[in-house]
Amino acid sequence: MADTVWWKRGTVYQVYPRSFQDSDGDGIGDLRGITRRLDYLAWLGVDAVWISPFYPSPMADFGYDVADYCGVDPLFGTLADFEALIAEAHFRRLKVILDFVPNHTSIAHPWFAESRASRTNPKRDWYIWRDPAPDGGPPNNWISNFGGPAWTRDEATGQYYYHAFLREQPDLNWRNPDVRAAMHDALRFWLDRDVDGFRVDVIWHLMKDEGFRDNPENPGFGPGQAEINRFAQVYSADRPEVFDVIAEMRAVLAPYGERVLIGEIYLPVERLVAYYGADLAGVDLPFNFQLIQTPWNARSVADLVVSYEEALPPGGWPNWVLGNHDQPRIAARVGPDQAAIAAMLLLTLRGTPTLYYGDELGLAQVSIPPERVQDPWEHNEPGHGRDPERTPMQWDDSLNAGFSTAEPWLPQTTDAAIRNVEYQRDDARSLLTLYRRLLRLRRDHTALATGTFRSLPATTDFVFAYERQDGATKLRILLNFSALQQVIVITDPEENRWSVLLSTHAARTGGGADATIILEGNEGVILIQAA
Ligand code: NOJ
Ligand code: MG
Repeated sequence: MADTVWWKRGTVYQVYPRSFQDSDGDGIGDLRGITRRLDYLAWLGVDAVWISPFYPSPMADFGYDVADYCGVDPLFGTLADFEALIAEAHFRRLKVILDFVPNHTSIAHPWFAESRASRTNPKRDWYIWRDPAPDGGPPNNWISNFGGPAWTRDEATGQYYYHAFLREQPDLNWRNPDVRAAMHDALRFWLDRDVDGFRVDVIWHLMKDEGFRDNPENPGFGPGQAEINRFAQVYSADRPEVFDVIAEMRAVLAPYGERVLIGEIYLPVERLVAYYGADLAGVDLPFNFQLIQTPWNARSVADLVVSYEEALPPGGWPNWVLGNHDQPRIAARVGPDQAAIAAMLLLTLRGTPTLYYGDELGLAQVSIPPERVQDPWEHNEPGHGRDPERTPMQWDDSLNAGFSTAEPWLPQTTDAAIRNVEYQRDDARSLLTLYRRLLRLRRDHTALATGTFRSLPATTDFVFAYERQDGATKLRILLNFSALQQVIVITDPEENRWSVLLSTHAARTGGGADATIILEGNEGVILIQAA
């Protein structure tokens, strides 16, 4: 049945491989480390693990600069380690999703070495080379996402190459059919090794304006924003030709059966949903980052959920994300008290949820001393670095919280002795326990996994209330976004009684709920209609 494919029912868990578990004592996580922790993921109750890049790379952008699409960087292990990982994952019924980075390679990729060798090299056209502007400067006004011009002049041949990110990450030319064929082969390499799908890096960037027109000024640009926002990315990304490229990727996956294609896309909702493609020929899940970008209050979140649901094309499956390796940690953004509301929201909305490792512990942003800064973006544009959300997972109260026997590549939280898996796993009131219970409920109740969604009228400004339904089963979710008690009318006169299935507050002990329910500050509850 189409509606029960695993990536609709299931939950995705993102692992940043440098930071999950070190196995060889170098202070950096690796594939064997991930394999060692698969039992944890199975225990937690997620269905798929998405692993950020582990391919051979000079690590200028920590693996998002790929020097070989069909290998494993020795820092992370070997291809045999990967094969063991996938076998062990599948043994535990966990799917494995890889990070595919097609927009750019590393400057160290052999293709780029050839391409830059001469203007007549057969691979010259695999990348984006342009003559200087008449004044000798860059060909147009496009800016790098990490600040500074997106064009770097290559002295030997006198032309500029384009890089949407670091100069160590030259963009591939997806208009070239040989590039497409080579990248399709890379997808097949991993599909043949049984991976269950791909998260495609910056998929909306793949095609650029054929005429390389200047981007227009962004009137909303102001102090504190990263330089990339100075111009609206009208010609450098989200071009109509990208949909053909995506349809071709899909066609590569098609013969392999139920594999998922997820697209990383930072665009407003009305553009985002275009990536489902005409007749759903686009990606299965255009990553929906709207919760990360919306102010954290009941009305804004309710409006967002309703407008997203309305914008979905027929048959387009929703999805929700609260955090990733590029965004401040959710617990830091909404505060420790609301972290439980965020968890309940993520895991009770309609659509595939993606969890970011460590968010289930409420990991905070870790402040990084200047001498330990790793992210190149922080060096280019201080304050924009992503190290604070990439710190190592915290497993127990042993040395380095069980992550490594060596000094970890980034520091951990100062409360690691109590903010770790071992400490929280048997505590009924912990965030980890809440995540686990929510994941369990999603599996037990089809209404939560694949049921319909209906927003309920707000009886206070501070509560977001909605209903999930599958057949005769109805669940209601009431989320208090404030620190104050809220009185909610829950029972329509003609309906049956409701009982509490789960609360974020362990002190609320099951039982029935009458016509009204008093939510504690920062409390969320899931109610089920009694038979
Ligand atoms: C998006 C990735 O999530 C980010 O970490 C990376 O720096 C850029 N793409 C460039 O690949
Ligand atoms: Mg290691």
